[in-house]
Amino acid sequence: MNILGPDSLVFGVDDVPACVQYFTDFGLAPVGVSETGGRFEAVDGTSIVIARRDDPSLPPPMETGTMLRKTIYGVADRRTLDAIAVELGRDREVKRLPDGSIEACDDMGFVLGFQVSVRRKIDVPGEAVNTPGNKPGRGPNMLGASANAEFRPLTLSHVVYFVPDQERASKFYMDRLGFRCTDRFTGAGSFLRPAGTLDHHTLFLIQTPPFMKGVEHFTFHVSGPTAVLQCGYRFAAKGYQSFWGPGRHKFGSNWFWYFNSPVGCRVEYDADMDLHDDSWVAREAPMQVDESQIFLFQHREKWAPGGPPPAGEAH
Ligand SMILES: [Fe+2]
Repeated sequence: MNILGPDSLVFGVDDVPACVQYFTDFGLAPVGVSETGGRFEAVDGTSIVIARRDDPSLPPPMETGTMLRKTIYGVADRRTLDAIAVELGRDREVKRLPDGSIEACDDMGFVLGFQVSVRRKIDVPGEAVNTPGNKPGRGPNMLGASANAEFRPLTLSHVVYFVPDQERASKFYMDRLGFRCTDRFTGAGSFLRPAGTLDHHTLFLIQTPPFMKGVEHFTFHVSGPTAVLQCGYRFAAKGYQSFWGPGRHKFGSNWFWYFNSPVGCRVEYDADMDLHDDSWVAREAPMQVDESQIFLFQHREKWAPGGPPPAGEAH
């Protein structure tokens, strides 16, 4: 099953204007946005879609408080779409929607869509680094940092669900949709990637009590560590609340910075995730702080030596 990854996440929300402001400030491009919602696109066309909670065009809400209404996967071609329809049609309803996509539920009740992917080619330079002893990543007179540098979320990377039975949930994605498990936290969570990407994970499942079922966070890749830090710094400066980060994960090696959001879950900037192929053997570790990050920093206001000590510091 040549599934590439999430193309779009659809939310039914209480406060459309707050979400419009949030995702615009996050750096996504608003497309067809009105007071009833719209789409917010990354550079490659992957997106977040916002609608009012009572919008009749949305799939029905989950029994919990999650605002996520649908996860739409991008697949390589029509053949994959047909194969998914046949596979899932063996034991559940598969709807064919007028736009050519299909819709079905996973084993935990999350509504999934599948469509021939909207992803466009990304033409954005990666972060270039100069390392002594190596060929320069940036030649003479090429500056590495600028306060005015433009960064955009490049692509929707991954989504994380709280699920009441992560083993059963993982099995559905692996056995029915061909996802691979790259790493796992013992009895607590599996990192999964579909066959059409080498990214460490596009889906992570975390075991929780049933009342918490829903989306925990989702993430857009940016161009590199500097972009994570600079995007996060700017977002915090706009008044958005940092939840976790900046730091660097252990499983996946991705740099991260998470923020609270008005869609009831966290939203993450990340960069430089590990790639894996089928020769990789999944690691397993207990779900503890040392396994969740290699290092973690705390955001501070800007400061420069010469003035008084930073506010709150011991003198
Ligand atoms: Fe993440």
